[in-house]
Amino acid sequence: MSHLSFTVLPGDGIGPEVMEVALDVLKHVASKRKLTLNYTTHDVGGVGIDNHGKALPDSTLAACRSADAILFGSVGGPKWENLPPKEQPERAALLPLRKAFELYANIRPGLLYAELAQASPLKNERIPNGIDIVCIRELTGGIYFGLPKETRENGGDTMAIDTMVYKKSEIERIAEVAALTALSRGKRVCSVDKANVLETSVLWRKTVKDYFSKRHPQLELTHMYVDNAAMQLARDPNQFDVLFTENMFGDILSDEMAVICGSLGMLCSASLGALQNKLGKPFGLYEPAGGTAPDIAGKNIANPCAQVLSVAMMLRYSFGLEEEAVAIEQAVRSAVTGGMRTADIAFGGHSVGTQEMGVAILNKLKFD
Ligand code: IPM
Ligand code: MG
Repeated sequence: MSHLSFTVLPGDGIGPEVMEVALDVLKHVASKRKLTLNYTTHDVGGVGIDNHGKALPDSTLAACRSADAILFGSVGGPKWENLPPKEQPERAALLPLRKAFELYANIRPGLLYAELAQASPLKNERIPNGIDIVCIRELTGGIYFGLPKETRENGGDTMAIDTMVYKKSEIERIAEVAALTALSRGKRVCSVDKANVLETSVLWRKTVKDYFSKRHPQLELTHMYVDNAAMQLARDPNQFDVLFTENMFGDILSDEMAVICGSLGMLCSASLGALQNKLGKPFGLYEPAGGTAPDIAGKNIANPCAQVLSVAMMLRYSFGLEEEAVAIEQAVRSAVTGGMRTADIAFGGHSVGTQEMGVAILNKLKFD
């Protein structure tokens, strides 16, 4: 019998209600597949600030350290918006978690079922089969973390500095994640940089080129400047298979990808670490791509699919349970394509609540 040890951080806004549904689905999978679940729930984000005085309380961090994975909801909301930027839930909880666990590989699938094409702002004739791409974003380097990072007085003026730094070793380890992802899919990687302007991008491009030709010559590797990539994504997203890029470009491109894929309520993500968990798998943090949606929080109308799909990613990457992951993904797909829709994907038609959506997913779960 496998034991799954993980930490649950529901966070703010819709986080707790979609997390409840995701855990129900996971409990069902566990009972069918004889898995034992060993998890504790902790405060993070705004609720961390309210109850412990900071967005990432020490007790929460300690719980994460002793687990094999983190299942994350979402953090932030109007109540904490006026705090100094460095103390706001998004920045003060997520960035330190990424750094503490060296979660350098962010995997964001851009998946839009053909049946939901209407949810995309793209003309539907451009995406007759929906969208199926994935963005691999470097998550612990680049301009987010480079030093110096400060604001200083300079000759009667005020100057702010952010520093973009990349090491070859950091680029190689994320290149490996992009390659492995491509190997499990369409075998094509498009590496995105700004090598016509940035030194870090020149190193990025050279390192990726050398790494792929040495380690993964069977994969198709192309390179694209980030401004062009932003345009190509809006023009024809399916020209990409794996879109692979550094931290800030990935932040921007993955939001663009999310919007062309329709509802944020359907998109999940994994952030995998350099650290291995007790099972010898990557320690990871799994979270929906969307935010806390404070306007609809507590109303039982939020779409729980992204949180449920984040559970599938956790089972796949941190616990090596591919069949169970696929079973959850298929259950979500068949519930949604079968017509069960929360308001965000119902296009004005009949919609169901968060809980009901969860029950629909549970009813579609099948194991051979
Ligand atoms: C994301 C978010 C974060 C980021 C913020 C909340 C710090 O936008 O996960 O994409 O910029 O990485
Ligand atoms: Mg972002």
